[in-house]
Formats: sequence, structure tokens, C-alpha cells
Amino acid sequence: MRIGVLASGRGSNLRALVDARDRGVLAPAELGLVVANRPDAPALEHARAAGLPAVLIEHAAYTDRRSFERAMLDELRAHGVEAVVLAGFMRVLTETFLSAFPRRIINTHPSLLPAFPGLAAPAQAIQHGVKVSGCTIHFVETGVDCGPIIAQRAIEVRPDDDAASLHARIQQLEHVLLPEVTALLAAGRLVCEGRSVRIA
Ligand code: GRF
Repeated sequence: MRIGVLASGRGSNLRALVDARDRGVLAPAELGLVVANRPDAPALEHARAAGLPAVLIEHAAYTDRRSFERAMLDELRAHGVEAVVLAGFMRVLTETFLSAFPRRIINTHPSLLPAFPGLAAPAQAIQHGVKVSGCTIHFVETGVDCGPIIAQRAIEVRPDDDAASLHARIQQLEHVLLPEVTALLAAGRLVCEGRSVRIA
């Protein structure tokens, strides 16, 4: 199954997907296209360095969300993409985009959802004083970070952690878990019943 990756920033999760592909553990998922919505997104360079097709579709160039999403859909379809991974993609998606890939869009988030959805989740976790945090891979729905949870990994928050050190350790978890879940998605092994997701 050909996967499209949407990214807005650093692209370390994209690199983890590329590493998994290179080690042969991403199959049956194939990386078909990377879309970035910011011209300065390092994810674009990572994609090109990995030999992946990569396009810039700047949300700021579109008058509304739907036309931006239609432009992304056109590119994804042109590259034969059948499922989508949000890897640090900082735009909320509407039904226009979501309905094109029913239960085939996943996101990685740096907290144990439903705690701390939205921006700056590691900073929210530090601020709140939690003792355990982690990452969540979930199906994407129209709300923010709220779709059915597929997988989570937890770590202890250290007394001397700040948002950056906590996020860095959470990212180490994401870099393992996101490729694993992407391979399961491509294999058709994620079964979603209501809010419950099991691995078949
Ligand atoms: C990740 O921590 C992810 O959970 C969040 O955005 C961050 C993206 O990091 N959605 P990167 O661009 O993949 O390095």
C-alpha cells in the first residue's frame, strides 16, 4: 500500500519511516509522496535526500481549507497514495480530506491522549506535573487529536525534565512506534470498532 506523508516541520518522524523502509520493516507500506505545507520544512529536504517525491503545497496560498485540501488530494491521488501518515503536520483537516481516506489517516502525538491534545503537549505535561507521559498513534478525525487510539508508549517524566528533554525522549518512542503502526495499517491489520482499535 502506497503511503503519503504530510509534514510541516523537522521531519524526524519522516526520517524514521525512511529508515524503517530501508531496513525492510515498513512493508507492505511503501512511501509514495511527501507533502509539506511550509517552504522551510526540513522534511522536504529529507524526502528528496531519500529519493522520495516531495511537493510543497503552501496552505497560505489558498483562500480556504477546502481548496488547500483538494490540492493535496490531487497530488496524493496522482501518486497512487491509498493511506496517509501525519508526521508533524500542523493543520487541522476537514471532512473534505478525511472522507477521501476513511480510517486510513493516522497521526502521531507527543502525549498520552486524551491528556494534552493540541500544541506544545510536552510543555503542557511538564506544566501539569504529570509523572508519566509518552506518545499516541491514532486515527484522525475532524477534531484535534481525538480519533480512536491505535497504540501508545509511555515513559517516566524525570524531575529535571523540561519540555525539550521530555519531547526528545518521547520522539525516540514515536520513531519506533509510528513505522510499526504504518506497516500494520498497510497490511490491513487495524480493525476499528467504535473507539476501540485492535490488531488483527
Ligand atoms: C512529533 O513530536 C509529533 O508527535 C507531533 O509533531 C512532532 C513532529 O516532529 N505531531 P518531527 O517533525 O517528525 O520531527
